[in-house]
Amino acid sequence: MTRKILVTSALPYANGPLHLGHLLESIQTDIWVRFQNLRGNDCLYFCADDAHGTAIMLTAEKLGITPEEQIAQVKAQHERDLAGFLIRFDNYYSTHSPENRELSELIYKRLDENGHIERRDITQLFDPEKQLFLADRYIKGTCPKCKTEDQYGDNCEACGATYTPAELINPRSAISGATPVEKESTHYFFKLGEFADMLRSWTRSDSLQPQIANKLNEWLDAGLQSWDISRDAPYFGFEIPGAPGKYFYVWLDAPIGYMASCANWCSHNDRDFDEFWSKDSSAEVYHFIGKDIINFHGLFWPAMLDSAGFRQPTAIYSHGFLTVNGKKMSKSRGTFIKAETYLKHLPPEYLRYYFAAKLSGAVDDIDLNLEDFTKRVNSDLVGKLVNIASRSAKFVQKGNDGNTTGSLDNPELWQRTIGLSDTIAQLFEDREYSKAVREIMALADACNEYFDQREPWKLAKTEDGAMEAAAVASQCLNVFRVLVTYLSAVLPELSQQAADFLNCDITWQGEFSPLLNHPVKPFKAMMARVDPDKVAAMVADSADSTPAPTASPDKGKTKKPSQDPGTIADTIEFPDFAKVDLRVAEIIAAAPVEGADKLLQLTLSLGELGTRNVFAGIKSAYTAEQLVGKLTVMVANLAPRKMRFGVSEGMVLAAGPGGKDIWILSPDSGAQAGMKIQ
Ligand code: MSP
Ligand code: ZN
Repeated sequence: MTRKILVTSALPYANGPLHLGHLLESIQTDIWVRFQNLRGNDCLYFCADDAHGTAIMLTAEKLGITPEEQIAQVKAQHERDLAGFLIRFDNYYSTHSPENRELSELIYKRLDENGHIERRDITQLFDPEKQLFLADRYIKGTCPKCKTEDQYGDNCEACGATYTPAELINPRSAISGATPVEKESTHYFFKLGEFADMLRSWTRSDSLQPQIANKLNEWLDAGLQSWDISRDAPYFGFEIPGAPGKYFYVWLDAPIGYMASCANWCSHNDRDFDEFWSKDSSAEVYHFIGKDIINFHGLFWPAMLDSAGFRQPTAIYSHGFLTVNGKKMSKSRGTFIKAETYLKHLPPEYLRYYFAAKLSGAVDDIDLNLEDFTKRVNSDLVGKLVNIASRSAKFVQKGNDGNTTGSLDNPELWQRTIGLSDTIAQLFEDREYSKAVREIMALADACNEYFDQREPWKLAKTEDGAMEAAAVASQCLNVFRVLVTYLSAVLPELSQQAADFLNCDITWQGEFSPLLNHPVKPFKAMMARVDPDKVAAMVADSADSTPAPTASPDKGKTKKPSQDPGTIADTIEFPDFAKVDLRVAEIIAAAPVEGADKLLQLTLSLGELGTRNVFAGIKSAYTAEQLVGKLTVMVANLAPRKMRFGVSEGMVLAAGPGGKDIWILSPDSGAQAGMKIQ
């Protein structure tokens, strides 16, 4: 039976570019949607930009444009990047839309009529210069506990203390610098507490992953507070009906944006909004989200839908966070990788595959380890999957005029391959993509083993063996077609190329039947190996490239004469010093830099921590040859910097008056590459 399915992923803020963390979510969702459609279901994918809120208003102001201009620019970038990753939406809309205004007003009115809205006066900090109420993150001051300056209004980054902005010593508005004053105003609250029973039974349904249900139950046990859904002007959003100067908080109209995107699509596609959202809808509705926003989707949203008389989501599917090389994405490490930057260097399907190979139905974080990424794509996709086609094609061309043979050479291999269809489909359905990928790659291995064992390259050498070689190759091409079908939601472009090569459609409905006596085209390269240089270039491109003003090695000319001790720089505190990660590094290669007479390009080994490329202004004291094999001390966590000659990934420390007298560590000092300087 054809299922009618509506799928969403969380609406990205229209306040900045998409990064690979966002893409983890879109790719997870897109694979699921494509899989559903491939299986013959009627599955629609809706998303939008989340366009409202203070942050967007302030960004636009800083850029000197209107919020409308700002959100239009960002939306165009988001759509471009998402399309670049082959994310296929039925509609990508905006929460700043007439449909969303209408639906938000409608839902709010219903909540109000049902007695689920209360009005209360609250006191908040207010920026008297900007005439703006300040959310906690817009207030900075000195930590009341450890006295570190310049901390945000809700927690201290130095000591971890949490507090209210009113407790900060010497609070300031992070927007204008003015001292905030306390001010009272009326706010509108959604009485979430009245939905405790309904939410309790929702957490017991099959709609939530166990980890999420537990978390929601913890919140329910702690008691539900009313939710503040209004913000005072100035605010970029929708004004609350009957409440001049009051706006819906961005998180009120954001999930309604799912409906609005659907409504907008319905109006252009002659479909009925109610068939998806009415209480008696027969459609399934799924929200794919990150684990940071489960309170909004697991509590507020179902309660709002309930009060407003709409259906509940069938399920919420939450995923974990993306880390890169085992750590939170970081600008200084070059691992805060924007979608756009990735696409400048690498094709989208590598990442789609890698994410699929790592994703499960659980809420675990996912690590993108760039070395593993390179290995995995090369070994699985190029070395196993595409290899089947590339090594087989010529034998069909030569031995049987480009046609597959009339029967299968190895029916067991065929049976085994198609026999896993239901299992693999169920794994995709359950979002256990990594398990599905493992099954598929095991089949690819079996197919390659069969090919190796039958040695068609030897068979093809004799006149009579050519047809047998073609039969082996035909067998492999048939398996290839099924494997590509299993992976086609992950690799839509590869599956297009395969369909073209094999002259067939890629569908995954009903039984597979083999292509027998079927013409195929000559093989064309389908997927290149991942070039590690391109991965490195992507990281270099992602690194924060603002040069530190004093760190530039070619600033030599403007430096004070090297004999002049000058004055000691301003005192820094220990925590500033502790941020500097000093390491012993071995110079394993050194070379002059063309066009820079003071610089040497050094390759530094940090032992197990890898190698670094550094440009150092020490050519006056050492030749390249003298340096190789020497140890030095380097700043290992200096943000990579783009220079005229390449990216410099650290700094070498040296002492001496300059000229010929610059000294670095000698190799017999007992130090070892990678060692931390304490
Ligand atoms: N605008 C809200 C969502 C409103 S939905 C009605 C929002 N936007 S966001 O741009 O911050 O995040 C969009 C989605 O990307 C969220 O599901 C979030 O969890 C996900 N991710 C953002 N950074 C992420 C990672 N580093 N890793 C994985 N997902 C991440 O929240
Ligand atoms: Zn503190």
